[in-house]
Amino acid sequence: MSAPLNRTEARKETEKLRAEIERHNRLYYVEAAPEISDRDYDALLKRLEALETQFPELATPDSPTRRVGGEPLKGFENVRHTVPMISLANTYNKEELVEFDGRVKKLLKETPYSYVLEPKIDGVAISLRYENGLLVRAVTRGDGTTGDDVTANVRTIKSIPLRLSKVDEASSLVKSGRDAASTIPAVLEVRGEVYMTRKGFAALNEERQEAGLEPFANPRNACAGSLKQLDPKIVAARPLDALFYGLGECSADFATHQEMLNALAHYGLRITPKHWPCPEISEVLEKLDVLQNMRHDFPFEMDGGVIKVNQRDLYEPLGSTAKSPRWAVAYKYEPEQAETLLKEITIQIGRTGVLTPVAELEPVQLAGTVVKRATLHNEDEIKRKDIRVGDRVIVEKAGEIIPAVVRVVTEKRTGKEKPFDMQAACKALGINPVKIEGEVAWRIDDLHHPAMLKRWLTHFASRNGMDIEGLGESIVELLVDAGLVKGPADLYDLKKQQLLGLEGFKEKKAQNLIDGIEASKSRPFDRILFALGIRHVGSGSARVLAQNFPNIGKLMTADVQTLEELRDIGPVVGKSICDFFQTSENRKLIERLQAAGVNFEQTVQAASDEFAGLTFVLTGTMESMSRDEAGEQIRARGGSVSSSVSKNTSYVVAGEKAGSKLTKAEELGIKVLDEAAFLKLLGGKPEQKKKTGQIDMF
Ligand code: IVH
Repeated sequence: MSAPLNRTEARKETEKLRAEIERHNRLYYVEAAPEISDRDYDALLKRLEALETQFPELATPDSPTRRVGGEPLKGFENVRHTVPMISLANTYNKEELVEFDGRVKKLLKETPYSYVLEPKIDGVAISLRYENGLLVRAVTRGDGTTGDDVTANVRTIKSIPLRLSKVDEASSLVKSGRDAASTIPAVLEVRGEVYMTRKGFAALNEERQEAGLEPFANPRNACAGSLKQLDPKIVAARPLDALFYGLGECSADFATHQEMLNALAHYGLRITPKHWPCPEISEVLEKLDVLQNMRHDFPFEMDGGVIKVNQRDLYEPLGSTAKSPRWAVAYKYEPEQAETLLKEITIQIGRTGVLTPVAELEPVQLAGTVVKRATLHNEDEIKRKDIRVGDRVIVEKAGEIIPAVVRVVTEKRTGKEKPFDMQAACKALGINPVKIEGEVAWRIDDLHHPAMLKRWLTHFASRNGMDIEGLGESIVELLVDAGLVKGPADLYDLKKQQLLGLEGFKEKKAQNLIDGIEASKSRPFDRILFALGIRHVGSGSARVLAQNFPNIGKLMTADVQTLEELRDIGPVVGKSICDFFQTSENRKLIERLQAAGVNFEQTVQAASDEFAGLTFVLTGTMESMSRDEAGEQIRARGGSVSSSVSKNTSYVVAGEKAGSKLTKAEELGIKVLDEAAFLKLLGGKPEQKKKTGQIDMF
């Protein structure tokens, strides 16, 4: 057993880990060129966390562990900007840009100058203050003079360096300006934009919609809302990012804007992915079209271009008005909106039964695509915007992804438009909508409604569920529409003859589906628990349940307190499980599935207690089996698998390229098994599965 670390050794290791983690942060978030897997990254972070817990005096303000979000704040402190955060004058036409250039020329008389054009990011302005390279404060613009101290939240944005550093000389980021950037200024305030990626925004809204929460209107609102959260842990989970394009107080100087940008990149700050030096305004006008054509290629919302004089020593002679500088101007693209007719409002059913009203539109061209439908989010939104069937409406691509109805063109109302009644619309579809306290969304409470049923069956047959080969969304649709299946239990009564009557089904396809259904009967216990679709029970909690209850009978009689005590099962999940099994319909379903021969207990192998009480951690890559397979073998013998090494670990199974878990095992004196020793412990080579090949385990 290796001796525990002393303080000096721990200090050395924490320093090394910090530098390494920040290097990987930069590679991943700034340079988009990761070198290690997410798992290996997590392992490094966990190791650092453990050391900092063991030696709290070694924790530093720039430690990557500080990113995950500390205690919730009571409120935000107001901070006065050392250099005010002024805004930009906006223009929507090119003539005004030529006029802008005319003013610059006049003010500068004979002095030569040029421009830089960069994208205008539609996010939330932020000012970061670094002192001797260390991030000390992040402040929002506020009213330009005073903003909110949002440091705790900004720390959670992984692409923002907590300590500035110099990328190595060969980095593709550094093209010039190396001299100016060769030392980090003692005080460096950088200004830029925090934003939410369009992809992240879409995923977040989908999640919120499914959870019955009010979705955000666009990525900027989602970003602003996130930065205003008092709990940094919530912010850490939001897909935020940041770009920098300017300076506040700074103890160094840069001759040109371009050099400054290059220096920022040199320090590890992200700058706009594109910017164009333009010798004169005519070139700016040309490049604005190039930029506009790239509008949808950026991962963030871009609402125009910013034109800046490149020579920073000309900023002072050009000066500023009270609101904006005379050396820069924003050219904004018209928002991409279109007017069309809202023909109908339909109801869409989400995976967990959330009912979303959807506008069915007269097809209209918008931002390069034809838009036929737009989300109306929820009933409150329809009321707030007073949207009626038959209205002429303005649609806009919210976050350029799902079009949304922005407003009604009320002046075009004829009086024939009909207000929408969500509950009546649901009832007309045979849906009984229910509202859960604290949620804005209505939900369906009838699992047997065809649309809900289709969702449920697809989940039931999915890979992590009963893994029924040949039963995807389209076949589920056929079976439900033909009235052959009214619930998961009906699948097990299907006859080949019935399938042959369906479109596209010939002998082979029908037989395959029947075989797939038959094979699903013997899936491990946790699969059916997941497949049942109990609210809040994912694959992980299903596995915990299966490990703790030998059969469904025992689980069905467990009370909330017993369930709550299990790992990963909190009060909400516990209650949801109890509620599910108390419903007589669900009990009947289980009876039918059992009668059909579906497995509802730990398999015979699992009943073996050969490994009872033993906890394994798997690391590295094994040749003969994947992590999942190794886990199944262990669980089948009554053992359990954990993702982290602790003093409670019985064995660490280390395959090829084992990482920090192996180091930790050695430190803690945990027994390490190589692949051969593990196979021996299993009692010979396990049964070979179809799939071979190497799978990265951790
Ligand atoms: S420069 C003194 N550059 O747009 C000039 N601003 O509408 C400071 N913005 O307040 C701003 N992208 O929040 C600049 N490339 C960019 C920008 C940008 C977005 C924001 C910024 C500014 C607002 C003005």
